[in-house]
Amino acid sequence: MRVLVATEKPFAAAAVEGIRKEIEGAGNELILLEKYTDNAQLIEAVGNADAMIVRSDKVTKEVLDAATDMKIIVRAGAGYDSIDTAYAKEKGIIVENTPGQNANAVAELVFGMLVYAVRGFYNGKSGTELYGKKLGILAFGNVGRNVARIAAGFGMEVYAYDAYCPKEVIESAGVKAVGSQDDLFRTCDIVSLHIPATPETKESINYAMVGLMRKGGILINTARKEVINEAELIKLMEERSDIKFITDIKPDADAEFAKFEGRYFSTPKKMGAQTAEANTNAGIAAARQINAYFKDGCTKFQVNK
Ligand code: 3PG
Repeated sequence: MRVLVATEKPFAAAAVEGIRKEIEGAGNELILLEKYTDNAQLIEAVGNADAMIVRSDKVTKEVLDAATDMKIIVRAGAGYDSIDTAYAKEKGIIVENTPGQNANAVAELVFGMLVYAVRGFYNGKSGTELYGKKLGILAFGNVGRNVARIAAGFGMEVYAYDAYCPKEVIESAGVKAVGSQDDLFRTCDIVSLHIPATPETKESINYAMVGLMRKGGILINTARKEVINEAELIKLMEERSDIKFITDIKPDADAEFAKFEGRYFSTPKKMGAQTAEANTNAGIAAARQINAYFKDGCTKFQVNK
């Protein structure tokens, strides 16, 4: 079987070698399309593949229509909002993700960005510490749980809200479970977003929600830009000069946010999962899932059932 690795933002070289070993070791062929700059290159490449590994690459109807032999697509990572999963299902193509494999990398970046923010982006002036501050984790999945683990080391008071995770599970991790998303924003000094982009969460982080934060509140986003209502957040930041917004996903309104000097920071390119370890974990898991599908028909991680 021909397995295409299509990554606009490439994996670390060590991860590609690990994927190669898995794929070729199982008697399959590896095709690499890295750093492609045009969707046409992806459309051309999918025509020759039985399986594909992607990152945040956009797998649209057009790409799926060109993928005439495709049986399985594995998103090496957690969020699969970049794939038209419903259309893939219509075409009989299995879509999987690799949950948890890059979660620690994203969680570590949360703290890298937070220290940078509370120390005034290293401007030489006196900042604040994370110790003793109230951290709110919105969604207690794989990333949220890693954030909670690291936050405990910083001596933070950790709160979480997750509409789909029982209170007991949150509390068994030593985290205080609050009753609603509003409560989380009302209670915490810092709120870290770990919700997926779904029709339900889209633009849910809005003026009213962030406006509940106490003085000096920090919103940090390492999830998806779509969950934020950018126009409303800008309006709030215009009215409240104490609010900071730190993000690993450049907002569409980046130029407008840039006017909030000292209160806004965005990485130039999404960096959360950009570590050799995360790339290797997620890439190899994806390769093994493809091999398992071709060998035994295993679809344990299918997200478009
Ligand atoms: C994920 O959903 O797994 C993360 O957002 C990482 O995405 P990336 O592979 O595009 O860096």
